[in-house]
Amino acid sequence: MSRWAAPLGALACALLGTAAAQSLPPASAAGIGSVERGRQLLANRSESGCVLCHVVPGLPAGGELGPSLVGIGQRSTAEQLRRRIADARLFNPATIMPVYFSTEGLQGVASAYKGQTVLSAQGLDDIVAYLLSVAR
Ligand code: HEC
Repeated sequence: MSRWAAPLGALACALLGTAAAQSLPPASAAGIGSVERGRQLLANRSESGCVLCHVVPGLPAGGELGPSLVGIGQRSTAEQLRRRIADARLFNPATIMPVYFSTEGLQGVASAYKGQTVLSAQGLDDIVAYLLSVAR
């Protein structure tokens, strides 16, 4: 065991703590999402792409690269969903899920999109509102 293990572990925790705090997305101006707009965003393959990888409750077809989101609204809080969708790297650094509300540490972003998040704060709230509202 390296004598650096403990200090590095503490450092990693400190850094993760900071990253988590910084990545917490700001609520949209209204702080309230539109369920209908969220449904449209979730279903849109080019705007969000969620259904390419997930079965989404209430939507016809869905992909299977990621876990089914059926029941996710019943077992998550709004804050948990916001963090996960904003930046899935906080939960799994090697995730294949796109980063939707951060521009930090991304590579190969086309110059036209540099500095832009995929979703707006409102879009993120809308998606969370839909996932929390939809029945299994
Ligand atoms: C390229 C595939 C891909 C896309 C696109 C994608 N995800 Fe994911 N998602 C995953 C994978 C894989 C996981 C499993 C955890 C991990 O590996 O990070 C996941 C996990 C999740 C979870 C946690 C599920 C649980 O059971 O805890 C939520 C919520 C989620 N995604 C929502 C979304 C939403 C909303 C969108 C669109 C805005 C989206 N995902 C787009 C691949 C994707």
